[in-house]
Amino acid sequence: MSSRTPLIAGNWKMHKTGLQAAEAAGQLKGLVKQATGVEIMIAPTFTALYQVAQALKGSDIALGAQNLYWEKQGAFTGEISSEMLVDVGCSHVIIGHSERRLFFGETDASVNRKIQAALSANLIPVFCIGETEAQREASETFSVLDKQVRDGLKDFAFEDLSGLVVAYEPVWAIGTGKTASREQAQEAHQFIRSLLGTLFGKQFADAVRILYGGSVKPDNVQALMKMPDVDGALVGGASLDPETFSKLVFFKH
Ligand code: 13P
Repeated sequence: MSSRTPLIAGNWKMHKTGLQAAEAAGQLKGLVKQATGVEIMIAPTFTALYQVAQALKGSDIALGAQNLYWEKQGAFTGEISSEMLVDVGCSHVIIGHSERRLFFGETDASVNRKIQAALSANLIPVFCIGETEAQREASETFSVLDKQVRDGLKDFAFEDLSGLVVAYEPVWAIGTGKTASREQAQEAHQFIRSLLGTLFGKQFADAVRILYGGSVKPDNVQALMKMPDVDGALVGGASLDPETFSKLVFFKH
């Protein structure tokens, strides 16, 4: 048994207004009150962060953002800094999600700068990596993950990265209903952990949490969570409904 505390995280993507998000967060808070031995995080859209932070008061559910910009302040129209996220109550931030890489030009180099900005503001980065279907079919999964990890975490020392969470999200499994099999997830997670061991040492690799993301649902979460290197889930669709998401939080039951 690993000593890593599981983390079940909801990425609400571009869903829910402030009021809708606060209502869902309030419901979730009630539903997971009895949860023990698991950390929970939800990442609503920027405009809902304040209301959700208020709704989560008095609960252990952590608040995350879905992106940030690395500069502290300045003439960067439309961007949001790590300090602003901390100010609104965030403790976590998702960085390098495949949708940002695909639609918004995020690169390993920008991901690297964003992780640095998050860490220097004491935000926990949830660093997303994963291969596309074409890359998997071309047997490039491990080389893609290798590059994303090396470049995304370039120039960090292990002591800089404490708290870092990695999310393995195979792009072909996101929102498609096609989940990676637990063997596929385990194989990728093991590869990532071993690479992190090579780069930052065994102690870091043993402690870092690696979440799986891609069509996680109440009927597959338990099998995935049983795998030794799967330490949690980053959930899109199934995190939007508080009842469904709470079933993921109680994956052991
Ligand atoms: P789905 O759970 O909807 O497949 O989304 C996964 C994801 O992208 C979480 O970040």
